[in-house]
Amino acid sequence: MLEKHVRKIYEYVKSQNEWRNRTINLIASENVLSRTVRKLTGSDFAHRYAEGHPGERYYQGTDYIDKIETDLRNDFKTLFRCSQADVRPISGTNANEAVFSSFLKPGDIVMVNSTPGGGHISHHLAGSVGKFTKNVIDFPLSKDGFHIDVAKTKELIHICRPKMLIFGRSLFLFPEPVEELKDICNEYKIKIIYDAAHVLGLIAAGKFQDPIGEGAFIVTGSTHKTFFGTQRGVILSNMGNNEWQKVDKGAFPGSSSNHHLDTLVGLAVATQEVISFGKAYAEQTIKNAKVLAKSLKHQGFNVLGEEFDYTESHQVAVDVKEFGGGKMVASLLKENDIILNMNILPHEPLRNVTNPDGIRIGVQEMTRVGMKEDEMERIAALMKECLVDGKEVRGEVNKFRQEYTEVKYSFDELLADLKSPNLL
Ligand SMILES: Cc1ncc(COP(=O)(O)O)c(C=O)c1O
Repeated sequence: MLEKHVRKIYEYVKSQNEWRNRTINLIASENVLSRTVRKLTGSDFAHRYAEGHPGERYYQGTDYIDKIETDLRNDFKTLFRCSQADVRPISGTNANEAVFSSFLKPGDIVMVNSTPGGGHISHHLAGSVGKFTKNVIDFPLSKDGFHIDVAKTKELIHICRPKMLIFGRSLFLFPEPVEELKDICNEYKIKIIYDAAHVLGLIAAGKFQDPIGEGAFIVTGSTHKTFFGTQRGVILSNMGNNEWQKVDKGAFPGSSSNHHLDTLVGLAVATQEVISFGKAYAEQTIKNAKVLAKSLKHQGFNVLGEEFDYTESHQVAVDVKEFGGGKMVASLLKENDIILNMNILPHEPLRNVTNPDGIRIGVQEMTRVGMKEDEMERIAALMKECLVDGKEVRGEVNKFRQEYTEVKYSFDELLADLKSPNLL
């Protein structure tokens, strides 16, 4: 009887929940949903379709989702001070695809952050950009490797006249030079796309940079890294209605049909949390990242970006070559319930991507469960005990993590009485 398999899946889900609640999660692309968001997902909306826009659907039965989607779109316009917002992409990659398909054609030259420079696969030949043009060139980087070299980029632009610059990265420590390159882009009619997947929540809070205000034509992003979830994507802009029609078609029908209404509801709730608590959260997140970087340095780790105070985002980059490289370190830490990922660093050749020198650390999730500066020092000490002293720290990690079981920066306490309507 296959019912046994269902019980097995149930056990896997239960084990995952219990296990990940005991771990220190430092994966920079993730975050946790509040209880309130979780109560309101898995509803009837998980069964439904709604193609098109509120009020102009191809399906009947969309009355309630139309209201939710309309309000959400308006909330995004207010949060990001822009006139256009598409909340339908079901992921950051999906949002990028909608944009690239609208503005790139074969032969166009695109400048992007390389993989060692932190760029995302969707910006590259192997990813979404590569479906539309093969002419992808990398931004020249400054010596530290975490900044675009503006003077050299201008020289390259004069020579090769790209159609598009794509800013934004997966290893994203410092703001991009949008303002510095705006004029030359205007001169040559180059479109600036800013992929804010990692830093969307920090931008919403006004704590990183304001890409649209600085001159970006379009901002894309994921809604679940420094934003409070659920896992979806978004496209934002100040462009006029005529040009926006292209993006609109790129999102639907270009890169999706139905847009997963259940997670749209979750995003609508999470956005209220960002509006109410996002500033305090972003401030604490950046503070925590800086403290973790300094503490790791103090514990003897080769933390990168020291001359720039390590980071202005939720991330920290560490060269762990002396401990056997990123793959070995990430695996050893995982055995001790500290979860993060190996990461290629700017000084490395691309062939190192599967066994790089670096690790990437993100503090956004542990900040969301209430950790502050003292806890960052504790995490640095646990990493040192594990990696430098060779001690097993899993027990200590689990005990420490037990103190942080609630999702802060949310309405969970205020709405504790709210029962999930989903299985009533
Ligand atoms: C810079 C950047 N863009 C896009 C994405 C893709 O986002 P998603 O996983 O929502 O498709 C990521 C994912 O981590 C990213 O780092």
